[in-house]
Amino acid sequence: MSSSLHHTLWHGADYNPEQWLETPQVWEDDLRLMNAAHMSSATIGIFSWTMLEPREGEFDFSWMERVFETLAQNGQKIVLATPSGAKPHWMARQYPEIRRVVPERGRQAQQARHNHCPTSPVYRAKVAQINGELARRFGKHEALLAWHLSNEYSGECGCDLCFGAFRDWLRKRYDNDLDKLNRLYWSRFWSHSYSDWDEIDFIDKGVHALGLDWRRFMTHQTTDFMLHELAALRPHSKAPATTNMMGDFTGLDYAAMAPHLDFISWDAYPQWGKGGTGDDDIQTACWSAFHHDFFRALKRQPFWLMECSPGQTNWRDVSKLKAPGVHRLSAWQTVAHGGDAVMYFQWRQSRGSSEKFHAAVVSHEGSEKTRMFGEIAQLGAELEALGEVAGSQTEAPIALVYDFENLWAIANEQGPRNTNKSTQKTALDFYAPLWKGGYGVDVVDSTVDFSSYKLVVAPMLYMLKPQVAERLTEFVRAGGTLVTTYWSGLADEHDLCFLGGFPGPLREVLGLWVEETDTLHAHQTNRIQVGDSQLGLGGEFEARDYCDLVHPESARVLATYACDFYAGRAALTVNDFGAGQAYYVASRNESSFQSEFLTALVHKLELKPAIEADLPTGVVAQKRVRQGREWVWVLNFCGQTQSWTTREEGFEKFEKGEWHALQSGQQHTLPSSGVAILRRSK
Ligand code: GLA
Ligand code: ZN
Repeated sequence: MSSSLHHTLWHGADYNPEQWLETPQVWEDDLRLMNAAHMSSATIGIFSWTMLEPREGEFDFSWMERVFETLAQNGQKIVLATPSGAKPHWMARQYPEIRRVVPERGRQAQQARHNHCPTSPVYRAKVAQINGELARRFGKHEALLAWHLSNEYSGECGCDLCFGAFRDWLRKRYDNDLDKLNRLYWSRFWSHSYSDWDEIDFIDKGVHALGLDWRRFMTHQTTDFMLHELAALRPHSKAPATTNMMGDFTGLDYAAMAPHLDFISWDAYPQWGKGGTGDDDIQTACWSAFHHDFFRALKRQPFWLMECSPGQTNWRDVSKLKAPGVHRLSAWQTVAHGGDAVMYFQWRQSRGSSEKFHAAVVSHEGSEKTRMFGEIAQLGAELEALGEVAGSQTEAPIALVYDFENLWAIANEQGPRNTNKSTQKTALDFYAPLWKGGYGVDVVDSTVDFSSYKLVVAPMLYMLKPQVAERLTEFVRAGGTLVTTYWSGLADEHDLCFLGGFPGPLREVLGLWVEETDTLHAHQTNRIQVGDSQLGLGGEFEARDYCDLVHPESARVLATYACDFYAGRAALTVNDFGAGQAYYVASRNESSFQSEFLTALVHKLELKPAIEADLPTGVVAQKRVRQGREWVWVLNFCGQTQSWTTREEGFEKFEKGEWHALQSGQQHTLPSSGVAILRRSK
């Protein structure tokens, strides 16, 4: 990331002064309120196309020039968006081809947003023109902090242009060799062999490799569109560029897009306060942490939280208010996981249209008197005071593999289980104990370099892309510890099954053969009985959904099934391989198994948590480091006052704007949603 970005922990918001051109008082209030809320940046222009080019070829940048001037004078930096996320009506009417075609081939009506065709030469020309105009005017402005490319790229288009581009992409991918494609698509099945490239129709769900390629292509085409946007900016501007990605969205392979961006940003909308089982906020915190770790690991660099809601959203069935302190907690959790910015959707509530009831820093009431404003202003002051954290890194000895192409492949495959495949839930289940323990985890794509990790956890790695098995094998041979599970090592990147026994090319490192996979009905369970003195793991755990029937070859058996015709057979194994070990979890077990197993493993590997401390359930620590200094956040998600102690020396604690020495062994109280911020020099 460019060093200018590391100036401070940014505090900003999506800002739409063009909605208030007729009310200068609002513009004035905004400037005053931004300073009162300790806002260091504002993101402008995201959906402003018609205000910049009201009619074709007629440009008006005057209001934006005023925004640049006034914000610069007022002390805010600007994140400038390209407007491609919502196309003008005049354009959609004049050039229908820019409107997306739904996969069933109907052209969409012009409406809403985020629905342009990514291939349309007309749309690309229009985007390049407006982006070029923006960059020429503002690209070197001293207040410009970064480019915000479009908004939440997503979706797919099935128009003839996209389809033609897909076929060209296929030709390139398969060396213009249709026989090669037929072979890799296994297309003799159901007589789907293609005799001409033009016969290939992306809508055919029967050919699994085709479905995968269509998704890969949409990532490719969206990335190409994004690069086209960027190319129009670059002749005039060197400011770093990002696009706002989304949590839980797996439609585009973010790992493939990340290398093209200068830094990563994402939009987080965790459901705090959902209540019910009592520990829901802990689960929500875990979901947030997982995504922060995913987005940070995309570049192994600090990321930005480009959007979060200061309070309620307006698009869920039910949106809870954020209880006092929850926003602060959630913001510091972002920073603790490597975030260098906390920014809001949105600065001021719009008066009309679809998002008028979405929370904002400034509500319809219009002043600083609201609870929300007060909390945000307090947080802003704290972020300002802790600017030293910006740019610091996260040490992660653990990688959790979460590969989007693998998710697509599992979603596509029609196997013994076509419901509750729960790949994301499974990833979270393996992630949760590591997060609760305060360990640094990179959530990564399967193609990363594993050599810097001590532990790689790869649940449900159904698809092994080229070289992944080899690199995992090498990782274990060199002393690493690998954990993988049922439904791993079944298919290659074309979704062709491995021959010669599952888990295919992982068979040697795991030292076993998976002959069959039983899948259980919702009302059925099995149990596994664990006894391993090396890990100090014992007891019985419930198994559901998936139970592999395993033949250990060189692997040792650490647990066995208790029920069904496979009672007594291996349910957990470990294989000593080279200088390392590879574990196989054969069944989907209740969460307490993941928790006890992974906790035992990190202790055996002597991995260091963020802080050696007695932390009650729901109180979680995270750490960032830079050249001899470390910062630790102790975050209370459990909804009650808690106390905690550390066994470590040399920490200071940030309180009321100052650092105070912290005694080891001293008990500290953390109120509900409380955050303790510590630092020490090493
Ligand atoms: C998304 C969009 C924003 C806004 C928010 C509302 O993240 O990027 O423009 O619509 O949702 O929560
Ligand atoms: Zn299209």
